[in-house]
Amino acid sequence: MDDPVARLRAAGCVLAEEEARLIADAAGDDAGVHESLLRRRLAGEPLEVVLGWAQFAGLRIPAAAGVFVPRRRTELVARLAAALSPPGGTVVDLCSGTGAIAAAVAHARPDLEVTAAEIDPAAVALASRTLAPFGASCMVSDMDGALGHLAGRVDAVTACPPYVPTAQIPLMPREARDHEPRLALDGGPDGTALQREVLAASSRLLRAGGVVILETSEALAPLTLAAAAHAGFAAGIERDEDLGAVVVVARRA
Ligand SMILES: C[S@@+](CC[C@H](N)C(=O)[O-])C[C@H]1O[C@@H](n2cnc3c(N)ncnc32)[C@H](O)[C@@H]1O
Repeated sequence: MDDPVARLRAAGCVLAEEEARLIADAAGDDAGVHESLLRRRLAGEPLEVVLGWAQFAGLRIPAAAGVFVPRRRTELVARLAAALSPPGGTVVDLCSGTGAIAAAVAHARPDLEVTAAEIDPAAVALASRTLAPFGASCMVSDMDGALGHLAGRVDAVTACPPYVPTAQIPLMPREARDHEPRLALDGGPDGTALQREVLAASSRLLRAGGVVILETSEALAPLTLAAAAHAGFAAGIERDEDLGAVVVVARRA
C-alpha cells in the first residue's frame, strides 16, 4: 500500500486527504523528503510538527518537536484582546509558547505594543521568529521576572496557560501526552494553579480598568471565574461555539 491517503487513514488520521495534501505541499518535488515526512506522521508525530507550522488566526506559526502547538480555539483570546485594547495600548501575552496569541493581536492591531513572556527557551526562540515581523517581542520569563518595568501600565493581559488537572494528563490524546512538554499542559491539582498565577501577575501589570483575557475549559470555567473574583477582578465568560473556546474576561477595578 503506497497511496499516502490510504496509509494515513490506516494509521487512524481522520482527515487523511487533507493531511496528505499538506504533506505533499511541504515536500515539494522531493520524493525522499515526502516519504520521510509521511513516515514521521504515521509514527504519530503531530501534523503541525511534521509540517513545521500551525495555522492560527490566518497566520502560519512555527511548530517544532517538544514545544506546545497552538490550538485554533485560542484564537478567541487574541480576537478579544484586539477588540478590547484601546488605541496605542500595551498588551502582554503570558505563557506565550510560540507566540501565536501575541502574533495574532499584533497582526490585527499594529497600533498596539505587544510583549510576550514564556518560561521555555525553546518556545521563546520560535516566538521571537514569529513576532519579529510584527514589531513585537518575546522574552524568557516566568510571570514576574522581566516584566517589572510594565507594572501598572498594561491595558490587556492575554494568556493560555497550562490548565489540564494533573490527574487528567494520562487521559489526554497521545499526540499531546507524548509530544508536548508537561510544563505546557499541567495546571496543577484542579487545573487552576497557573491561571491563578496569571491573575496575580495581571493584578501587578494592569492599569486600573485593564483586562485579563484567560483561556479556560467548559469544565474549569466556574473555578476560573471564582479565582478571578478572589483576585479582585470583575469577571465574565465569553464563548465561541464553533472553535469550542471558553475564555474568562476579567477587569481590574
Ligand atoms: C498551553 S501552552 C500555551 C502556549 C501559547 N499561549 C499557545 O496558545 O500556543 C502553555 C505555555 O505556558 C508555558 N509556561 C508554563 N509555566 C509557565 C510559567 N510559570 N511562566 C511562563 N510560562 C509558563 C509553557 O512552557 C507553555 O509554552
